[in-house]
Amino acid sequence: MSNPIIEKIDKAIIDVEQRLAADIKEADIEQVRIDIFGRNGMFPALSKEMKDVPPEQRRETGQAFNVAKQKFHALLDAAQERLCGGSTDENACDIDLTLPGCKWKAGRKHPVTIMIDDCVAVFRRMGFIVAAGPDMETVYNNFDALNTPRDHPSRDAADTFYFGDGRLLRSQTSPVQIRVMKSQEPPVRIVAPGRCYRRDTPDATHSMNFHQIEGLYIDKDVSMADLKSILLSFAHEMFGPKVKIRLRPHFFPFTEPSVEYDFSCIICEGKGCSVCKNSGWLEIAGAGMVDSNVLETVGYDPEIWSGFAFGMGIERLAMLRHRISDIRWLYENDTRFLEQF
Ligand code: DAH
Repeated sequence: MSNPIIEKIDKAIIDVEQRLAADIKEADIEQVRIDIFGRNGMFPALSKEMKDVPPEQRRETGQAFNVAKQKFHALLDAAQERLCGGSTDENACDIDLTLPGCKWKAGRKHPVTIMIDDCVAVFRRMGFIVAAGPDMETVYNNFDALNTPRDHPSRDAADTFYFGDGRLLRSQTSPVQIRVMKSQEPPVRIVAPGRCYRRDTPDATHSMNFHQIEGLYIDKDVSMADLKSILLSFAHEMFGPKVKIRLRPHFFPFTEPSVEYDFSCIICEGKGCSVCKNSGWLEIAGAGMVDSNVLETVGYDPEIWSGFAFGMGIERLAMLRHRISDIRWLYENDTRFLEQF
């Protein structure tokens, strides 16, 4: 006696074997799976027909049904395996195994961060500790407490970002000096690296956002000679023992006397080149002996305590060290550039 369900199953096996034999794609396999096992596929339909099977055929039909189920699964798995090269990763089929693999790129430190870390390491060896202050400062800490006259050009709204509520984006790291001195008794020996903000039009040497490292040393009987020796040690540690330094008289509101200090050109070794504009010297930063007005403002007795301060641009140091001609490279996040450090 014929069994229509077993006949359907046998036909379906042949059909599926043919459909899965050829050069198939992922979507073809999925379609076969849907046709066989899907909600409107063959198996659910056959299950419904089972109730019409005469009782004497139930057993063999049920067995054929189960065997067929396994057979279809085996056929589908084999087809999948052929397509994916045996991978169990369900996305493997979308991968062209003949393509070269993609390398994971490990992140790395930004050249500005490297420069900050190196500066801090040098000053730590000389006994300085790291201090920090907020980017959003008070006008008082950024200017008033630093002895900056009311009409000083750096206060101009065209140069500094004001919030209009007595606060601003700090234009220098010098306000960290005030925070540190107000929070502790002397002696003080700190460096404070951090971001600064100025309303500068970006060009090869200017950025609205840049970094400085501030130094402050307060103790008894500190002299300009101490400042010079610290700066010379820094120059040697950073750029090698041949580098010379020179101090030029300058003016900063918070130091008296004030100086600008230069390194002999690290590129031409002082002979003269385009980077040092043929002068043989590179302007590095500002420094000086902390003004007695500043000491008084923070409650230090200038008769007992004296000290020096300095501040330098991190980007400038990084640009000199790596011969970077345009500061904007440091802020464009071009990985071709950043990968070099
Ligand atoms: N704050 C100064 C600037 O941004 C740099 C500076 C000069 C810092 C002299 C100092 C200093 O601590 O003593 O131009």
